[in-house]
Amino acid sequence: MQGMSANTNTIAVNKTMDLFDDHDSVWLFGYGSLIYKADFPYIERRPASITGWTRRFWQGSHDHRGTPEAPGRVVTIIEEADAICHGMAYLVTPEEFAHLDYREKNGYLRLPIAIHFDDGREVTGLVYIATEDNTAFLGAASEQEIARHIARSAGPSGPNSDYLNHLAVALREMGKSDPHVFEIERHLAALSTSALE
Ligand code: BEZ
Repeated sequence: MQGMSANTNTIAVNKTMDLFDDHDSVWLFGYGSLIYKADFPYIERRPASITGWTRRFWQGSHDHRGTPEAPGRVVTIIEEADAICHGMAYLVTPEEFAHLDYREKNGYLRLPIAIHFDDGREVTGLVYIATEDNTAFLGAASEQEIARHIARSAGPSGPNSDYLNHLAVALREMGKSDPHVFEIERHLAALSTSALE
């Protein structure tokens, strides 16, 4: 994000994103744990996608799937022309963002985004994104390296491998594909099989 310094407090920055504050409800696009874990009240939930963005396990997690000393790896979205990122959209009241800003305080900013539903309808909503200049950003690595990293990581929300596996299962149940996620899932499964041998 332009102008976001390494030490930016994302809760404070997100509070200034008041574009939808006078709306009764706002669509939030989820592409990570929000796909399978909605620990907040919502009015409606629908499979959806965004274009021009791809999901990547490039964000460090200090507070959910890792620790400050040994961060885990969780998803963010990276701009990529023509890419489609499938996820789940939730219609929520603007008040829910205080809870979500806290839950996603480890580097995620809320951004306006065009959300596409499967019936062809498009709405402007919000998405949480962790950009390269946040302190927890880890960046690119091969799917095999990412699987090794995930296999050894855990944090207050549980093993990093649960996060990856729940995400892969949820995408498959929605009938959606994500080669990056599914390849990491395959490497992770091979690692646990080889550990048993
Ligand atoms: C998501 O599922 O969209 C998400 C979850 C946590 C942080 C950022 C995004």
